[in-house]
Amino acid sequence: MNKTIAVIGSSRRNGNTGKLIDLIAEELNIEIIDLSLKNISPFDYEHKNVDDDFLPLMNHLLKYDNIIFVSPVYWFAMSAQMKVFIDRMSDFLSIEELKNKGRELRSKVGYVVSTSISDNIDDSFIDSFTNTFDYLGLGYGGCIHVNCKNGFNPDAYQSDIINFVKKLKPRSVGDAI
Ligand SMILES: Cc1cc2nc3c(=O)[nH]c(=O)nc-3n(C[C@H](O)[C@H](O)[C@H](O)COP(=O)(O)O)c2cc1C
Repeated sequence: MNKTIAVIGSSRRNGNTGKLIDLIAEELNIEIIDLSLKNISPFDYEHKNVDDDFLPLMNHLLKYDNIIFVSPVYWFAMSAQMKVFIDRMSDFLSIEELKNKGRELRSKVGYVVSTSISDNIDDSFIDSFTNTFDYLGLGYGGCIHVNCKNGFNPDAYQSDIINFVKKLKPRSVGDAI
């Protein structure tokens, strides 16, 4: 079974970020989950939303070793779709029966795929992922960031894409070390 899965939160599935993760997913032959198609509501202190799509989605993601979090930079931060999803990780910290499930994240590695209209990835964006991974106990495997100021141009980022894919590609016998 493939060890990697991607989860995208963007306001358009086939936009810049969607095209980038599609290329990566094609190379890795992995599933991409679109948060926009899920019914995941914001964190609720009273957990009245515990029956929405968050828990089934997490049960699915926890079958994988590597989780790629895919988001454009919107206002120096992750997309609202991704933020709502990440906020719900708090269910694992605040619902007694889910605490053990949450601890399963400690054996996983998180990656970040992003686009914006800048060469540089904002600290406010990437830190919110890496600090969250840290808090939840996920390892951090790395990120790829693509400047889409003039649209998505994969040719300009070919080596970055290859290097990112290499981190996640299962090794076969006979591969150079
Ligand atoms: C609501 C919104 C906010 C944005 N904020 C930023 C930003 O803070 N910094 C940046 O470099 N680009 C920003 N952008 C540009 C997007 O990050 C960029 O166009 C990205 O590639 C869009 O990806 P998408 O097609 O998946 O939406 C913003 C775009 C939108 C729609």
